[in-house]
Amino acid sequence: MQRIAIYPGSFDPVTNGHLDIITRGLTLFDKIIVTILENPAKNALFTVPERMDMLQKTLKKFNGRIEIASDDGLVVDYAVKRNAAAILRGMRAVSDFEYEFQMALMNRKLNRDIQTVFLMTGLRWIFTSSSIIKEAAKFGGNIDGMVPAYVKRKIMQKYPIETKGGKKGKMK
Ligand code: PNS
Repeated sequence: MQRIAIYPGSFDPVTNGHLDIITRGLTLFDKIIVTILENPAKNALFTVPERMDMLQKTLKKFNGRIEIASDDGLVVDYAVKRNAAAILRGMRAVSDFEYEFQMALMNRKLNRDIQTVFLMTGLRWIFTSSSIIKEAAKFGGNIDGMVPAYVKRKIMQKYPIETKGGKKGKMK
């Protein structure tokens, strides 16, 4: 039997930190279904089809073991629908803990059979998030190395005037 995990998130857009979690997750699971779900607390920059496109383009290299999906319901219900045993989430710093803990316990309350598995991101991604990367790009900051090149181009298209090519703050 295949060990399947759902990796849910906003993915607005996918970052190198997400790719790091997927790479680590594939050492534990046979298949990971990367699933775009709604986070009511966030206003997305990209539409769901745009986010799916960026995921598809950047996850090609994991061919076969990754599927990209979207759903508009509860993550635990989607996990059941897809025969997944676990929900995979990345943990960066302590600041993530309270929110992740609350969400994992709520998901367990909703369905006791689905486990949440947390993986630590690599140290170099500890400070990155889709939100902070978008903010940096919006005001002209350089986001090289934080997102795949294709995603960087898509972010720049959303902020064409402000960024002027994202030349500020070259990574040292
Ligand atoms: O990348 P994010 O924004 O941290 O992901 C959060 C997300 C989308 C995984 C979360 O908001 C979610 O699971 N939304 C779907 C509804 C749901 O099942 N919520 C959790 C229990 S109430």
